[in-house]
Amino acid sequence: MTGFDTEDDIIPRAGVIGWPVDHSRSPKLHGFWLQQHGLSGRYDKLPVPPEDLAAFMADLPKEPGFRGINVTIPHKVAALPYLAQVDPVAQRIGAVNTITVQPDGSLHGSNTDAFGFLESLKADAPGGWSPAAGPAAVLGAGGAARAIIVALLDAGTPEIRLLNRSRDKADALAAEFGSRIAPADWEARAEALGGAGLLVNTTSLGMAGQPPLDLALDDLPATALVNDIVYSPLETDLLARARARGNPVVDGLGMLLHQGRPGFEAWFGVAPAVTPELRAAVLA
Ligand code: ATR
Repeated sequence: MTGFDTEDDIIPRAGVIGWPVDHSRSPKLHGFWLQQHGLSGRYDKLPVPPEDLAAFMADLPKEPGFRGINVTIPHKVAALPYLAQVDPVAQRIGAVNTITVQPDGSLHGSNTDAFGFLESLKADAPGGWSPAAGPAAVLGAGGAARAIIVALLDAGTPEIRLLNRSRDKADALAAEFGSRIAPADWEARAEALGGAGLLVNTTSLGMAGQPPLDLALDDLPATALVNDIVYSPLETDLLARARARGNPVVDGLGMLLHQGRPGFEAWFGVAPAVTPELRAAVLA
């Protein structure tokens, strides 16, 4: 499937650009919603190697019917220079994941990962989650961590304990995002869980094919919510161990599903919902 060579180009179109993009679940997500709402539209995987990004972005507004795209690795930061407008949340995160072609042909970029993260906690946390529950412990300081830090700051989280293997990256985020970020050494990650109201893993540790997440949970209050953004497997070792000791847990699929909502609505004109049927379809 290629991006721009169709004859049926008057139907509304969107897609996801990445390199590689084969693994993306976004076509299942948006495909489900298109079908559910009986919309004529399509959403494709669009493999775009880095050397083709400039040409792709230049061509995007010229394609009749193309409403916009999701952006995944390695283009989330690289796409920024091609955008006429970048919303403030995306500017703070420093990356975009959703681009909409404006009526005048200019490109608008946003980042819906922070929204998706908070919406998934709202929808899926047993008993809910409130920033008033106390400090959050965040593992990792990469792109996903930036989105979650912005979400937690905007939600009013009083303190974000940031634990990263490379301490300098955690320090850099603290310098950027301010005094509510409390960086700590990776070696001290278990102790950093004391008194926390939320624990989030934003690293790839625990993902199928990646090393396990080595983290003792003894110091974590049993009331703390535990979220893993890894969703393959859906029940990570972290979530299983947290659940076994009585912590409420939220898996990583919700963030993926909820982050897709604003793009779908902008491109296809319908506000979609995240349902158990959608979860099953995207996991299948
Ligand atoms: P993403 O955009 O998904 O956040 P990323 O920007 O590559 O991906 O960030 C990956 C995160 O996982 C980083 O925080 C990384 O730690 P470093 O900054 O020290 O590289 C973390 N990570 C990956 N592999 C790890 C490992 N084996 N042990 C500890 N942390 C790891």
